[in-house]
Amino acid sequence: MSSWRILCLAALAFFQSSTSAEKRRLSPENLLVITAATEETDGFQRFMRTAREFNYTVKVLGLGEDWKGGDVARTVGGGQKVRWLKKELLKHSDNKDLVVMFVDSYDVIFASGPEELLSKFSRLGHQVVFSAEGFCWPDQRLASKYPEVHSGKRYLNSGGFIGFAADLSAIVQQWKYKDNDDDQLFYTRIFLDKTQRTKFNITLDHRSRIFQNLNGAVDEVVLKFERAKVRARNVAYDTLPVIIHGNGPTKLQLNYLGNYVPTAWTYENGCGICDDDLLFFTDVPDEELPLVYVAVFIEHATPFMEEFLDRLTTLNYPTDRIRLFIHNNVVYHERHIQKFWERYRALFPDALLVGPEEDLKEDKARTMAVEACKKDPECDYYFSIDSDVALTNPDTLRILIEENKSVIAPMLSKHGKLWSNFWGALSPEGYYSRSEDYIEIVQGKRIGLWNVPYITQAYLIKGSMLRSKLSQVSLYVDDGMDPDMVFCRSIRDQGVFMFVSNRDEFGRLVASANFNTSRLHPDMWQIFDNPMDWKEKYVHENYSKIFEDEKSFVEQPCPDVYWFPAFSEKMCDHLVETMEDYGEWSGGSHKDERLAGGYENVPTVDIHMNQIGFEKEWLKFLKEYIAPVTEKLYPGYYPKAQAIMNFVVRYRPDEQPSLRPHHDSSTFTINIALNNKGVDYEGGGCKFLRYDCKVESPRKGWSFMHPGRLTHYHEGLPTTRGTRYIMVSFVDP
Ligand SMILES: *[C@@H]1O[C@H](CO)[C@@H](O)[C@H](O)[C@H]1NC(C)=O
Ligand SMILES: *[C@@H]1O[C@H](CO)[C@@H](O)[C@H](O)[C@H]1NC(C)=O
Ligand SMILES: *[C@@H]1O[C@H](CO)[C@@H](O)[C@H](O)[C@H]1NC(C)=O
Ligand SMILES: *[C@@H]1O[C@H](CO)[C@@H](O)[C@H](O)[C@H]1NC(C)=O
Ligand SMILES: *[C@@H]1O[C@H](CO)[C@@H](O)[C@H](O)[C@H]1NC(C)=O
Repeated sequence: MSSWRILCLAALAFFQSSTSAEKRRLSPENLLVITAATEETDGFQRFMRTAREFNYTVKVLGLGEDWKGGDVARTVGGGQKVRWLKKELLKHSDNKDLVVMFVDSYDVIFASGPEELLSKFSRLGHQVVFSAEGFCWPDQRLASKYPEVHSGKRYLNSGGFIGFAADLSAIVQQWKYKDNDDDQLFYTRIFLDKTQRTKFNITLDHRSRIFQNLNGAVDEVVLKFERAKVRARNVAYDTLPVIIHGNGPTKLQLNYLGNYVPTAWTYENGCGICDDDLLFFTDVPDEELPLVYVAVFIEHATPFMEEFLDRLTTLNYPTDRIRLFIHNNVVYHERHIQKFWERYRALFPDALLVGPEEDLKEDKARTMAVEACKKDPECDYYFSIDSDVALTNPDTLRILIEENKSVIAPMLSKHGKLWSNFWGALSPEGYYSRSEDYIEIVQGKRIGLWNVPYITQAYLIKGSMLRSKLSQVSLYVDDGMDPDMVFCRSIRDQGVFMFVSNRDEFGRLVASANFNTSRLHPDMWQIFDNPMDWKEKYVHENYSKIFEDEKSFVEQPCPDVYWFPAFSEKMCDHLVETMEDYGEWSGGSHKDERLAGGYENVPTVDIHMNQIGFEKEWLKFLKEYIAPVTEKLYPGYYPKAQAIMNFVVRYRPDEQPSLRPHHDSSTFTINIALNNKGVDYEGGGCKFLRYDCKVESPRKGWSFMHPGRLTHYHEGLPTTRGTRYIMVSFVDP
């Protein structure tokens, strides 16, 4: 060993500035990173991406070769890596200027560039530096032979080391063992041999100045956020490591850090680790789009099923590039599937429907669907979607395909809740654990593609992945385990990354816990659990225009009588059908009760909301949808939106055709027409006597709102044909 080199290193260690000669010697052009990989796994690609990001020169050994180095995750092994390195370093052993760093790749990322690496190497003041960790592996009996350290990790880890090419070459030329012998043990023995340690001037990076092994040190590593940049920092030693190694059981922690590191990537106002803008689809003709097997799973009774099925037909994707599979395990939903099938079978001529009569269990159904894609070489993608996903973004398939990941889920959450279709972290037992960034991701405060340990309910898998890495894997079936858990574990075990994207809005999750299918139209009761779906289904599509000051959506047909869109057609129909199905239209005794209660004695043929168990839901509707209109139209009045008189009235020529003039016992009254004049009935309407003003052509779904007591003395005009229904509510009595 030349002593001038040692001197230079010593000088570098003491003086941060170096002469130009030394600078040339320890310059990035003289740095070579060597790694070993037999396969281009997701982890390998991530490694290479970070290397490219920082302009490292990387030589990959072993690509395309069979791995004989044992299962290093579980046992010893890895000798094959040393054998390759031995051969490779022979080429460089005469290059006095060359610095070589060897690192693993599947579980390694770069966090900084070559300049910083070399400067830190130089400051460590040794010819060869191995990474360090807190475990003595694979032979714990060697622990006592290690030199004492007063601070930092004591034991050698061979997943990363750096040194001058000549020294490293001399070290690995001593390898004469088998491919499945342990590489770490080999290097450990050399390090523990005092003669060799001195000869090659070897040290360990005890305080993670260069190498951060995560095993046993997860708590020491935090992400340090500075504006839009992030850097992983070791807070135990106050260092900023250059290489991060998710060794042992810390792969998921590395995946987490990999969402943010390297620092050059920003995660705010854009994207964590996204590739360039998505452009691929702009010019691709429909018939050349990838073939997608879409598999639908209806495993439990789910609200808004018709809307769910309809959305399958309004995806912005040619249906002849879709192969549809539906597993319906719920007898109640057979009616919806039936209707869907009658309407749309022509769109999906090759669809496969499996109904509840087949008694196919969920895990078997999922297997059957995924196998179909696996077996069809034409199948480019497999898209799995559960019935409780409201995929409101019709471009979802295209967006996910363009992201070009092996496994990717659109991020979905329950409206206004933190419940979502992914987990940010995994507990040691393999169950849910909340990651530090979970809430920010769900709430869209951090936007990007996130490498996560668990996804569910909707995801896209590349067919090529199913036919390669996953070809031998049972993706869903494992006794005693839920298919979603089996799925994610299988994917993780294969070293395949699962991503969730919140770069776009995709939709939401539907809550189905309180779905009571013994009701005629159970979705009507979902205003609390699924407010967005309820609104889309049951509130008039132009309701929100009331607040945009579009005159045509709030009319004033009589003084202080307002008229505006409230219910959708469906709400009108479902309400009337529910009432007719219930059937107990009020008789005499009912009217007397109301009289005794001190209300207006104006008997109507009606059914009250509390009779059908809809009162809570109705009051919610008043509060959410009617109160804001009142506040807008009667400024200064803030309704409590309480109402005890909420009922549907039925007018018929031969039953009760009209209502004599009366006041309502309310601060204000709303009155919503539930069917169509001219179609369902003739006549009808309302007359306000004080103003001599009539509204004779009610519109289905539109509501009147007028003051109750004192001023708005009114009558219901006679219905002359058919049946007229209105919904009446006396608000703030
Ligand atoms: C390694 O070299 C440095 C200076 O170059 C010297 O200070 C140190 O003692 C050497 N270490 C060993 C273990 O030989
Ligand atoms: C990598 O090299 C490219 C061009 O060679 C340069 O534009 C870029 O800034 C370099 N990146 C870093 C992190 O040094
Ligand atoms: C998609 O990713 C693969 C590697 O994972 C890459 O080879 C291919 O070029 C990418 N395709 C596009 C369109 O970016
Ligand atoms: C479900 O609806 C029926 C009426 O159709 C009602 O009798 C029953 O109480 C409801 N169940 C629950 C749990 O709300
Ligand atoms: C909503 O308003 C638009 C135009 O203003 C109209 O074309 C449409 O029919 C309205 N929707 C309903 C359900 O009435």
